Amino acid sequence: MLLGPKHCKNQSTMVMVMSYHCPASTKLTWILASLLVLVRTIQVRAQLPKGFINIDCGWKNSSSYIDDALGMPYTFDGESVESGVSHEMLPEFMADPTNKQEKTLRSFPDGSRNCYTLASTTGTKYLLRATFTYGNYDRLNKSLDGSLFLFGLHIGVNFWATVNLSNWDPSFTVWKEVITIAPSNSLSVCLINFGSGVPFISTLELRPLLDAMYPFVNTSVSVSNFQRFRFGNVNTFTTRYPTDYYDRWWDSFSMSVVDYSTSMISLNTSNNLESLPGNSNFSVPAAILQNASTKDTNQSSITINVAAGPNLGANDLQLLPIFHFTEINMTNPNRRFDIYSKDVLMFPDFSPSQLQVHSMYKSGQFMQNADGYFFLNKTSSSSLPPLINALELYSLVRMDNLTTNSDDVNYMKQIKTYYKLARTSWNGDPCSPREYSWEGLICDHSKSNQNPRIVTVNLSTSGLSGGFAISFMNMTSLENLDLSHNNLTGAIPDYQLKSLKVLDLSNNKINGPIPDSILQRFQAGLLDLRLEGNPVCSKVKDTYCSKKKKSIPILLIAVIVPVVLISLLVMMCILWKLCWKGKSVDNEDYAMYEEETPLHIDIRRFTYAELKLITNDFKTIVGKGGFGMVYHGTLENSDEVAVKVLMETSIADSTDFLPEVQTLSKVHHRNLVALKGYCQNKKCLALVYDFMSRGNLQQLIRGATVCTTTTKPLFPNKLG
Ligand SMILES: *[C@@H]1O[C@H](CO)[C@@H](O)[C@H](O)[C@H]1NC(C)=O
Ligand SMILES: *[C@@H]1O[C@H](CO)[C@@H](O)[C@H](O)[C@H]1NC(C)=O
Ligand SMILES: *[C@@H]1O[C@H](CO)[C@@H](O)[C@H](O)[C@H]1NC(C)=O
Ligand SMILES: *[C@@H]1O[C@H](CO)[C@@H](O)[C@H](O)[C@H]1NC(C)=O
Ligand SMILES: *[C@@H]1O[C@H](CO)[C@@H](O)[C@H](O)[C@H]1NC(C)=O
Ligand SMILES: *[C@@H]1O[C@H](CO)[C@@H](O)[C@H](O)[C@H]1NC(C)=O
Ligand SMILES: *[C@@H]1O[C@H](CO)[C@@H](O)[C@H](O)[C@H]1NC(C)=O
Ligand SMILES: *[C@@H]1O[C@H](CO)[C@@H](O)[C@H](O)[C@H]1NC(C)=O
Ligand SMILES: *[C@@H]1O[C@H](CO)[C@@H](O)[C@H](O)[C@H]1NC(C)=O
Ligand SMILES: *[C@@H]1O[C@H](CO)[C@@H](O)[C@H](O)[C@H]1NC(C)=O
Repeated sequence: MLLGPKHCKNQSTMVMVMSYHCPASTKLTWILASLLVLVRTIQVRAQLPKGFINIDCGWKNSSSYIDDALGMPYTFDGESVESGVSHEMLPEFMADPTNKQEKTLRSFPDGSRNCYTLASTTGTKYLLRATFTYGNYDRLNKSLDGSLFLFGLHIGVNFWATVNLSNWDPSFTVWKEVITIAPSNSLSVCLINFGSGVPFISTLELRPLLDAMYPFVNTSVSVSNFQRFRFGNVNTFTTRYPTDYYDRWWDSFSMSVVDYSTSMISLNTSNNLESLPGNSNFSVPAAILQNASTKDTNQSSITINVAAGPNLGANDLQLLPIFHFTEINMTNPNRRFDIYSKDVLMFPDFSPSQLQVHSMYKSGQFMQNADGYFFLNKTSSSSLPPLINALELYSLVRMDNLTTNSDDVNYMKQIKTYYKLARTSWNGDPCSPREYSWEGLICDHSKSNQNPRIVTVNLSTSGLSGGFAISFMNMTSLENLDLSHNNLTGAIPDYQLKSLKVLDLSNNKINGPIPDSILQRFQAGLLDLRLEGNPVCSKVKDTYCSKKKKSIPILLIAVIVPVVLISLLVMMCILWKLCWKGKSVDNEDYAMYEEETPLHIDIRRFTYAELKLITNDFKTIVGKGGFGMVYHGTLENSDEVAVKVLMETSIADSTDFLPEVQTLSKVHHRNLVALKGYCQNKKCLALVYDFMSRGNLQQLIRGATVCTTTTKPLFPNKLG
């Protein structure tokens, strides 16, 4: 069979040329002719069928317009894309397109991936179509200068198709369609720069399908339209909405094939077709099935080659054909044929039923190495040659890569908006596919059947200013947050993230207090907090304000052999004390007072700064005693303590202070509160006791930590 375009510009006489080659001017004729009646009715109620999204890429006016031919509104793309540049095709091509939407386009000179995001319903099956009409918008003659001009398309985080515009008439339209299930409440389409020309796009159309349709499409399998033909004597090049309620594009086989009129015979009927239960799988419009092609009675085979031509290389695709048949010859014929893909028998001895629709396909069985040749060969018992009404051919699109956890995505989007981050790579899914993940993020892809999670956010030196984004607080897998070298101000939010291991806020303008939960995790050695280079460090002196990293071992509380445990505890006790003794020399605010120490007792000596820290700036008063206030405090190892502070006025004449310390330090009785330490210098006289809240036996048991060997009393502190 000689294949070639009939009404469209001919590129090669020996190649079947598809609708892709059809200049839009041809479409103008057919659309105007076939839809004239429709236009009249539709202009009255120009409505968008439910769930349809029509986007005219590059169109700048934010108010939508009604497409005359379709009677549907099209909107600009300003709300669905953040990057790219609007263009118009060159004036010499302006007359060509039927579809007004082809006249404008959006190109993406920057970034390797640029994405559109369309609102969708999670779990709904959609047909998504993108069209590409170059129109030499950039005056570079890219499609005809002999170089490769191609770019990729992703549906979400998975590869969908390559758009190949090499050696392509600039007025011709390439269109790509995919049937997919929305993984979330948005569906993204990304253009991938392969380094062979700047990607661009002309339109985007989204149509919801019924769940029952295309049953082989599921969350891990999408399909890309390879060819979709209707047969019979059809002289509209492309049939679409409203004939097809789902706006699939059906190309006329007779107009795509050069010698169609000589080799094929067209049939048609106006009889109603009977809907069989299986019909809902494809819902092919009756108007399409009421036409068919067959052959002259002295011939025995229909050959269909669908894989020739640019953009139609079938070799690296896995194809799934769906043949739609219904017998529309009313003379009760005997028609039987075998259906072959090349030389593989797919469906033997098939006989179409009169006015009943049969859709023949092998669900989920994509053919490897299909070359796009199909034969319908008459069987020996058949009195009539084969017949066909419609054919759809899809290629497999694997949806192996999972989108990032949707909560993480939402929080990252909030952060992006909050800080007005305009990074070119911050486009599309944050983690997936890996090679396009957002700059500064590290994701956990290790669980292959789970959505990737974000574990590191590095916004160091990103010119951030203002307050902290609270969205970080909800990212439950975040381990490492680096916001260093920015201009962040204000209070640190209470990042109660159990997963957080590193919080680097160094070199900002943070002045506010550090939340308890962060301090506690830091003190327990669970969080590496970095605050150096912030105003807050002029007030507080702790290791998180110095450049050295702190490395206090995390206390191991486990059920191990007692001997091991005990020796470990002893060692840690020693280490602990050494550490803190060293520290109080290093960071002593009031070191000059310390030589007054007359005590040689085996309890910890606190500095004033340390007391301030453990009591969170003397925040919580738990009692009032004879010569001062008693405050609640928390030690680095999370032990709760009561800090009894002498009033400043009583410091001068507190002659009984040191004897009390000395006495108490020697007393270890189970009905007395244990003295854990003291502070003594000109600024401060204080005693630090174990703190026990009343009656909580569980806390009592759990609170028995390493270095406290004294028995704790069960009654509340009575200090004054
Ligand atoms: C946008 O479209 C509306 C309606 O078609 C029109 O009135 C308006 O002038 C257009 N605005 C611009 C800036 O072209
Ligand atoms: C584009 O390039 C082709 C091939 O080099 C050439 O024949 C054609 O004249 C060029 N068109 C324009 C508008 O430059
Ligand atoms: C999934 O991601 C990997 C790594 O990023 C990539 O190589 C692969 O092509 C992707 N798979 C699909 C179906 O897009
Ligand atoms: C088939 O029949 C047609 C007329 O019906 C005739 O023109 C054609 O030559 C025949 N072809 C063959 C191979 O006999
Ligand atoms: C793109 O199309 C050109 C011209 O038709 C062809 O030579 C080339 O192999 C195609 N490339 C790809 C990757 O499909
Ligand atoms: C999706 O369908 C394919 C066959 O089409 C099947 O192998 C696969 O298991 C299905 N996946 C899910 C998640 O249902
Ligand atoms: C089907 O018919 C075509 C065309 O006549 C022929 O080339 C092919 O070999 C036939 N296939 C089989 C399996 O008979
Ligand atoms: C963040 O990025 C900076 C360079 O941009 C690098 O110096 C720093 O180590 C990174 N932080 C983390 C936690 O990876
Ligand atoms: C974080 O989660 C809580 C509860 O799930 C919610 O109330 C809050 O709005 C979330 N914060 C952000 C910034 O989304
Ligand atoms: C902080 O802001 C000042 C002035 O706005 C600017 O000069 C400086 O570069 C910024 N610093 C950082 C680390 O972004």
